[in-house]
This record gives sequence, structure tokens and C-alpha cells, in this order.
Amino acid sequence: MTSPVERSLVLVKPDAVRRGLLGEILARFERKGLVIEALEMRTMDATLADQHYADHVEKAFYPPLKQFMTSGPLAALVLAGDNVIEVVRAMIGATDGRKAAAGTIRGDYSLSNRENLVHASDSPESAARELALWFPKI
Ligand code: PPS
Repeated sequence: MTSPVERSLVLVKPDAVRRGLLGEILARFERKGLVIEALEMRTMDATLADQHYADHVEKAFYPPLKQFMTSGPLAALVLAGDNVIEVVRAMIGATDGRKAAAGTIRGDYSLSNRENLVHASDSPESAARELALWFPKI
């Protein structure tokens, strides 16, 4: 019996869209063999930001994070593939682009822990919650 395909909610953040890196980032996911099951350009509003970052709303870094994430269009994706949650987290690298390993998306293109190009679900539980929030019909 085959296990069901895993899915992750990935956001290509406003800094990546502004910098013209969306195509490069999508190409990396495709070349890895991951499947883009849904792709939508969206601008996050304050309500969605508070829901998406529910675990972080009380943290000192949340106001500037919210300001940044609502600052312009982002690309919301459903990515599917074997072990996709762990695979995508490895591909994007550590949160802080200054510390992320070369060869990862953040390691190659970010010098910030706020403008760090990509968000990806960090566990099956957060993937289920985030996918329901962003793509309730899937
Ligand atoms: S934590 O506290 O360890 O759970 O936080 P972390 O997983 O490292 O980061 C969660 C998200 O917060 C963003 N972040 C920041 N934004 C602005 N300023 C600062 N200082 C900062 N530190 C962390 C970080 O980019 C993560 O965003 P997502 O969208 O989840 O990648």
C-alpha cells in the first residue's frame, strides 16, 4: 500500500517577488521534483497575518514581520512530494539569511532574518493548519 503524498504550504514572500526571484525559486522546487499543486498571487491582510503567525503574535519581532508580510504581493503555493515538508525546509535554509548555508535559497539570496524570501510549513501539524487557512478548498 502506498502512503498518501505529503503537502506543504509555501509562501514566496514579498521581498522575493519585488526582487524578481519568484521564477528562480519556483524553478528550484520544480527541478527537485516537487509538484506545484496550487499557485496564487495574494497580498496578505492583517487578519490573515495574525492567523498565519498565531504562534508569534506576542513576540517582539512580530510587528515588523507583519508590516513586511503585508507590504506587497506574495506567491502562495501548495507543494507536494515525498517528505516535502522536510525537503523544502532543507532547501530554504536557516531562518537568518546571514547564517543560512550556501546552496540554500536563503543562503544564496538573503542577508536578513525578516526579508528571508520563503516561508514553509515546519511540521505536518503546521502544514495542515496553514493549508486549511490559505487553500480551504483543496
Ligand atoms: S521562533 O521564535 O524560533 O519560533 O521563530 P522562527 O521560527 O525563527 O521565526 C518565525 C518567523 O518569524 C520571522 N522572524 C523575524 N521577523 C522579523 N524580525 C525578526 N527579528 C525575526 N526573527 C524571526 C522568521 O522569518 C519566521 O518567518 P516565517 O515566515 O515563518 O519563515
